[in-house]
Amino acid sequence: MSKQTVSKRVTAPSLRARKGAEKIVALTAYTAPMAQLLDPHCDLLLVGDSLGMVVHGLSTTVGVTVEMMILHGQAVMRGSTQALVAIDLPFGSYERSPEQAFDTASRIMMETGAQAVKVEAAEGVADSIAFLTGRGIPVIGHVGLRPQAVNLDGGFKARGRNDAERERVLAEARATDEAGAIAMVVEGVTPELAAEVTAAVGCPTIGIGASSACDGQILVTEDMLGLFDWTPKFVRRYADLRGAIEVGAAGYAADVRAASFPGEAEEYRLGTRK
Ligand code: KIV
Repeated sequence: MSKQTVSKRVTAPSLRARKGAEKIVALTAYTAPMAQLLDPHCDLLLVGDSLGMVVHGLSTTVGVTVEMMILHGQAVMRGSTQALVAIDLPFGSYERSPEQAFDTASRIMMETGAQAVKVEAAEGVADSIAFLTGRGIPVIGHVGLRPQAVNLDGGFKARGRNDAERERVLAEARATDEAGAIAMVVEGVTPELAAEVTAAVGCPTIGIGASSACDGQILVTEDMLGLFDWTPKFVRRYADLRGAIEVGAAGYAADVRAASFPGEAEEYRLGTRK
């Protein structure tokens, strides 16, 4: 047998053990070069189905396919070496039954090498989380605002603003935790509800638009790097990628039109190695 390559990645048990300890740093990644840049800074890289909106221009995540998740998952695995990589199960690929969830999750893990999957955890999905966990698949849940339920909910709206919603989110979180999730994303809830959920569950909570009460934070990378002209209220911009790209593209276009690019420095010369 050949010598085993030992992965240096964050593991599912070590991520789960971060409950109440050092905050978990997570970001989305969809491509190899971005994963390479983010990997040294993150505990968790999520290949989120938000890639449908961010990369492919869809208006919701509902049209994202398993094949899209696999293609981007493979790229992120190639670009990273230390973060735990989790991949979203897209809409329609897991909700019917635990068996359907297992077929999709095992295919995604086998074809990408990722260590975990994420599911949007309506209460009915808890059985599937337990089924996957019992068969060696680490699962991250996702409660609160669930983007795949956008059509049922009538938009991307914050959750938990009344008692019934608050109870529903708490029930989803408890069911996700009891089913064995290694962590759960808590999206779009008030600070009070984020604190309640975090106190109610044994696994770490990873907030997005859910205050600092959570055990960690995640953002869509392109949002926090300022790629879009609009960002949601809960996003802090750490860079101006949009401005940088606009300046770069305008400079290139001007140089090409003025025939000042390419210049001598960018030309091949006969008889030199440059
Ligand atoms: O799809 C995604 O990127 C997500 C994160 C925003 C948590 O679910």
